[in-house]
Amino acid sequence: MGRDIVVEGLTKSFSKGVYGVKNLNFKIKEGEFFVVVGPSGSGKTTFLRLIAGLERPTSGKILFGDEDITHKNPRERKVAIVFQEYAIYPHLSVYENIAFPLRIRKYSKDYIDRKVREVAKILEIENLLFRKPDTLSGGQRQRVALGRAIVKDAEIFLFDEPLSNLDAKLRISMRIELKELHKRIKKTFIYVTHDQSEAMSMADTICVLKDGEVVQFGRPDEIYNRPKNLFTAKFFGVPQMNILKGKVKNRDGEIYFDEGSGSLLIDGKFKKYENEEILLGIRPEHIYDRLYTSRPEKGTTLIATFEMMEILGKDFYLYLNTGYHNIVVRTTYKSEIKPGQDIMIVFDMKKAHFFNIKTGERID
Ligand SMILES: Nc1ncnc2c1ncn2[C@@H]1O[C@H](COP(=O)(O)OP(=O)(O)OP(=O)(O)O)[C@@H](O)[C@H]1O
Ligand SMILES: [Mg+2]
Repeated sequence: MGRDIVVEGLTKSFSKGVYGVKNLNFKIKEGEFFVVVGPSGSGKTTFLRLIAGLERPTSGKILFGDEDITHKNPRERKVAIVFQEYAIYPHLSVYENIAFPLRIRKYSKDYIDRKVREVAKILEIENLLFRKPDTLSGGQRQRVALGRAIVKDAEIFLFDEPLSNLDAKLRISMRIELKELHKRIKKTFIYVTHDQSEAMSMADTICVLKDGEVVQFGRPDEIYNRPKNLFTAKFFGVPQMNILKGKVKNRDGEIYFDEGSGSLLIDGKFKKYENEEILLGIRPEHIYDRLYTSRPEKGTTLIATFEMMEILGKDFYLYLNTGYHNIVVRTTYKSEIKPGQDIMIVFDMKKAHFFNIKTGERID
């Protein structure tokens, strides 16, 4: 099992009934890029601080390999942390900023020089070593902060929303840099973010938190393709998954989802919900504009009124209304339709998701 991190019943309560995290049970594999994602207040920072040893759990354990580190102090844990407000010293050069953690540990001058240059090479900032931070771009400064963290030979790297202060374009290029850095140094990365697209694009494994509890745990594709509940269904994907409310109907043995304006044929297994309301979820990329598909199969279409179109790069988002639901369709074709016009839309029903209307849990 190497140096996997295992959390068992990990709980932190700040006062009676106020939980930071609640009963976390999972394993972070050695060397993986692990992302904890969730809305504000879901317990992400608390989790990271528990792993770092900056916070003591109320109950539960943290194992690192076969070592119980629950009660070890931060220094003994070999962790490096990069926070959102990365602290780099403005009066020190890039070189001295990176060297700082080694200087306070009193390493030799030669050792420090070798390590600083090695880290600068990994981060491709060798040519910036003698500049002051205020002469650097946001991304370069971020790399200096990373350098400070990785120079220490940590075994676990913890990141708390390190990209949220950067502009959108830089955020995306830093994602790629972080992935590459991870590949190069081959250490366990635990990365916290509220940004679903960061989680999807960087993670080997994602842990979705809500109110301090795990809502779903798995690979990005598993979470995207099989959300366990309405929360993860809506949290991942832009624009958000379309959610339609409808009644299950049985017509001569065929089972339909009655959307209100029309019906969609669904699997016979949903017969058990006959005459009950359920939720159907379908992503914008799984509904097609009729004009661009071949003859649709029975029970896969609805008629909807076109309201407006949004253009995002090569994609077009059509905003439609069936009279019962607003629906967003993502296509790569520029439609010639005019606002107010009715069009037929085709649902790829194999890609539909179903949820219990009361609990929000996935049903199938
Ligand atoms: N020191 C503290 N004292 C009391 N409550 C706290 C403390 N730190 C965190 N909490 C509470 O614990 C919960 C989780 O907080 P945490 O900071 O872990 O959330 P987060 O997911 O990191 O949020 P954000 O995305 O806003 O950073 C919140 O309800 C928060 O109010
Ligand atoms: Mg936080």
